Amino acid sequence: MELKDILGCMEGDTFREKCQSLCGCLRDLDSRYDWVGIYWVKGAELILGPWSGRQATEHKKIPISEGICGAAVREGKTIIVDDVQKDPRYLACFLETRSEIVVPIRKNGKVIGEIDIDGKEVGAYNDDDRKLLESLADFIATEWPGRW
Ligand code: SME
Repeated sequence: MELKDILGCMEGDTFREKCQSLCGCLRDLDSRYDWVGIYWVKGAELILGPWSGRQATEHKKIPISEGICGAAVREGKTIIVDDVQKDPRYLACFLETRSEIVVPIRKNGKVIGEIDIDGKEVGAYNDDDRKLLESLADFIATEWPGRW
């Protein structure tokens, strides 16, 4: 899969609609992307925005001091966790989740949000996923209207 495939699938007119559509497109295009969500940074918290998956998560707000999601913001870089059961930072959402990738969305050097993806297999994500999702995060940052 390439960025153009994801963008080719995207629908919607507004930024919000496009982000919602992108979450669904990622799941439709690759079955390893089991749950896909976008969190936005608001103050010291991450707030869940659009998402696509079989179940809703209880983690609609995550302090930046917590979780793999928080760590990705603090470190300002993509985090791939091959086995969430072995990572003490992990905040559990779904019983079947075994691996996770979290990709910061950066605008003018500042992390404004992140793409969070959960998978059902150990080691589901690799460097190709990182590159693809980082290019998608750049696209989202470009489209960002400057406020929610
Ligand atoms: N697992 C994440 C929390 C978000 S859920 O995966 C949707 C974390 O450890 O930060």
